[in-house]
Amino acid sequence: MPAGFPAPPPLAPEFIPRHIALVMDGNGRWAQERGLPRTEGHRRGENVLMECVDACIALGHVEWLSAYAFSTENWRRSPSEVRFLMGFSRDVLRRHRDELHEKNVRVVWSGRRPRLWRSVIRELEAAEELTRNNTGVTLAMCVNYGGRAELVDATRRLAEDARSGALDPAAISEETIARYLYRPDMPDVDLFLRPSGEQRTSNFLPWQSVYAEMVYQDTLFPDFTPQHMYNAVLEYARRDRRFGGAVDKFAAQ
Ligand code: IPE
Ligand code: IPE
Ligand code: MG
Repeated sequence: MPAGFPAPPPLAPEFIPRHIALVMDGNGRWAQERGLPRTEGHRRGENVLMECVDACIALGHVEWLSAYAFSTENWRRSPSEVRFLMGFSRDVLRRHRDELHEKNVRVVWSGRRPRLWRSVIRELEAAEELTRNNTGVTLAMCVNYGGRAELVDATRRLAEDARSGALDPAAISEETIARYLYRPDMPDVDLFLRPSGEQRTSNFLPWQSVYAEMVYQDTLFPDFTPQHMYNAVLEYARRDRRFGGAVDKFAAQ
């Protein structure tokens, strides 16, 4: 960990989320508040994301960090912002993959292939290949990711298998569907964290987040620090996760 990196709160392992979903939002507002082009906010997010990875490593017991970098809806932005975000995703991966590898981070990509720039896919796949045997935190870069797109893509492949006879429709279970998602090895989200003040999921990991604890913070992503992540984890640790179950305090045992 870099010298002076803030120490994580002392929490027992069961109070630490195994999978954190992070919506890196608020970059544009951060820049515009300062009279800067929106892209300056994205640039500021680069090191913030790396600090989030360091915070997860420092917390220990965080196994997955899924970072929402570009959604299937973000194509609606101006051509110049889309172009910037594509080039930026590619360059961020190239700039940081060796450092992530040294930190034993496993990088994986979750998202839809069509429309995504080939050079971005190449960098994502190069980072996956370099770090595939790492055993530390898994960083899922969600680029051209959309929750509904993921379910549509899964359904198409599942229907193909049903048509060819490889899959019996009557045997489809939740586990079957999970196997057809972009990352079948992705665990359910425990902590869904969104800075920037917006209180919505914006199509991020709907299948995986049905029982996630939602934590919304007002800070814009460029101002986000490891301490914000620690605060979110402390909030998570205070929640009572019941998963639909209930305990009657007054019933006879
Ligand atoms: C998040 O910041 C980054 C991406 C969506 C790529 P925004 O660009 O959405 O920033 P705001 O929400 O407009 O401030
Ligand atoms: C979600 O943020 C997508 C990413 C952070 C990549 P948006 O800024 O695109 O979402 P909305 O438009 O506020 O819902
Ligand atoms: Mg936004």
